[in-house]
Amino acid sequence: MDEVVIGGRRFSKLIDEVRITEAVNGLARQLSEDLTDEEDVLFLGVLNGAFLFAADLFRQITVSARISFVKLASYEGTESTGRVKELIGWSENVEGKSVVVVEDIVDSGRTLEMVVGSLALRRAASVKVVTLLFKPESFRGMSRPDYAAFVIPPGFVAGYGLDYNGYGRNLPEIYTLIE
Ligand code: IMP
Ligand code: MG
Repeated sequence: MDEVVIGGRRFSKLIDEVRITEAVNGLARQLSEDLTDEEDVLFLGVLNGAFLFAADLFRQITVSARISFVKLASYEGTESTGRVKELIGWSENVEGKSVVVVEDIVDSGRTLEMVVGSLALRRAASVKVVTLLFKPESFRGMSRPDYAAFVIPPGFVAGYGLDYNGYGRNLPEIYTLIE
């Protein structure tokens, strides 16, 4: 199935299931290796988009580690600032911990900056960022993700956790919007 309809729009296949599985397993191996000397490792998934990726990745992690999730709530700003986002769901004390942020996609990089900024304020010992997808052409942030399973061209994507208007998260492949 190379074309699907998600939320009424047509999408074409960008990355198939086998490539996703291979990339996720590769990342898990690399991360497990890089985390061997870390003591207090906490994976921190960013909901909703990263829920499948975080689950598949964490299942393959071979070092001792814990996992928790945060969510970004967006609301309209009172002035011309547009959409404001706020992080909710911090149940973890991250002070002194080695945190691995798990993102579905890094686009402009604004979300990532918020998450990493919050972790710094909460005195995490170290922060690594792993993302399923990275769109370098729209990235405006300061520090790029440490690990990316796929670097992709501009264009809206959905599937494997990512949504279009809430739909498409259950697709096992990743699709891109046909303009
Ligand atoms: P950023 O703050 O611009 O980097 O956007 C990151 C967040 O926006 C991601 O965590 C996603 O939830 C969402 N997002 C950005 N691009 C896409 C996309 O192409 N498809 C689905 N969600 C996206
Ligand atoms: Mg996200």
